[in-house]
Amino acid sequence: MFLLKNSFHSYSVVAVFALSRQGECDHITRLTMPLGRRNAVKNLKFGLIGTGFMGNAHAIALRSVGTVFEDIPSPRLHCLVDANASNAAKLAKAWGFEESSDDWLAICNDPDIDVVDICTPNHLHKEMALAAIRAGKHVYCEKPLALTAKDARLIRDSAAKAGVVTAMGFNYMCNPLISKARQMIASGSIGDIYSFRGCYQEDYLADPSTPFGWRLLRKQGGAGALADLGTHLINMAEYLLGPMTAVLGSLTTVHDKRADPITGDLRDVENEDIAQVLVRFSRGCAGTMEISRVATGKKCGLEFDIFGSKGSLAFDQERMNEIRIYSNDDDPDERGFRTILAGPEHPDYAAFCPAPGHGLGINDLKVIEVRNLLRGILSGDPIYSDFANGCRVQEISDAIEASHQQGNWVDVSESTLDPNRKNQ
Ligand SMILES: NC(=O)c1ccc[n+]([C@@H]2O[C@H](COP(=O)([O-])OP(=O)(O)OC[C@H]3O[C@@H](n4cnc5c(N)ncnc54)[C@H](O)[C@@H]3O)[C@@H](O)[C@H]2O)c1
Repeated sequence: MFLLKNSFHSYSVVAVFALSRQGECDHITRLTMPLGRRNAVKNLKFGLIGTGFMGNAHAIALRSVGTVFEDIPSPRLHCLVDANASNAAKLAKAWGFEESSDDWLAICNDPDIDVVDICTPNHLHKEMALAAIRAGKHVYCEKPLALTAKDARLIRDSAAKAGVVTAMGFNYMCNPLISKARQMIASGSIGDIYSFRGCYQEDYLADPSTPFGWRLLRKQGGAGALADLGTHLINMAEYLLGPMTAVLGSLTTVHDKRADPITGDLRDVENEDIAQVLVRFSRGCAGTMEISRVATGKKCGLEFDIFGSKGSLAFDQERMNEIRIYSNDDDPDERGFRTILAGPEHPDYAAFCPAPGHGLGINDLKVIEVRNLLRGILSGDPIYSDFANGCRVQEISDAIEASHQQGNWVDVSESTLDPNRKNQ
């Protein structure tokens, strides 16, 4: 065993590695290289675990990122992993991976792999992320980071200690118009913020005959709508407005039993369909969040209104290439919400398309997310969202559940939830 001490990150790094093969030595050299010199590392090799909805979205992004962002060396799609070996083999071929496997642990320990990309059901994130971190890999993980804040802190702290780069799958905040909204709020162009109204509503479980799945089991999904949809909204709200300080939550399960897809037997749904939350932010404004997986008719209803003293912003992910802006600076007889279409003036849009109003899609947001990760690894730029953000979101999600159980407000100030955070 070999002990390396380093301080090229803002935090100090202590990494213990077993040096047995040349590949591992190379890997350690890369991990401990000063960030400025990491530009030398090209074509990072990815091991992607999971071939479902998100596995496919990540594969598309990994293949596209070097075409869209020419300064980013295209990653190498080294190995595609799935518990279903024949699916892994078939899709590895179709998606352009060099190899396939059904053994995720071997991928974490493969000295050839630089980045482990986790797109599996929620309960597997902890074990997979910790194994990847132990092997010194950078880790890209779908939300939620873990099933509980306790586990999320363990993962975040392990990654920080190992000095690996991390990224979360909070893709919606990568929208060029969300960057624009954030800039407008930060520059004061809509004035002091009075209130936030956020929703993330979908209807994928509105039909009671939709069969049981892993998302409905506490041990596999964790929370329900909160884990699946609410995590995106919490992250979005803090990205735009800064930290929350307190939450008051109410959870409801509308359909408490569903049929098992194989046996047909009715099974208990173990988590909530709807979460309704009152929220306070440290900047002084109030807010509400409504999160639902049974909102009939809503397909990707991540929406917000932000009301300020000089104007307001309104966004709806179902119309993700539009943001609506109201300004008190307009002449009184011409005031009203104006719709701004996404275009090359907005951050990152021009890399995809030179023409305004032509529109980006959800997979383009994943391309931006992957670009952020690769840039973070190659040049040391901070990544939003990383595992610290993923952990913070999990802390707030847990606090909303605790608030529902206790029937009172729960303090989510960073200093209260995690007093050691400042020392890391
Ligand atoms: N960022 C987003 O917008 C977004 C959208 C959907 C899902 N997600 C997240 O992505 C993750 C995956 O969700 P999904 O919808 O793709 O799920 P899914 O059920 O479609 O796919 C999960 C995949 O993991 C594989 N898998 C399961 N156990 C495995 C194991 N032990 N080893 C290897 N592979 C295994 C399955 O075979 C399947 O291919 C979840 O954490 C979910 O919350 C994020």
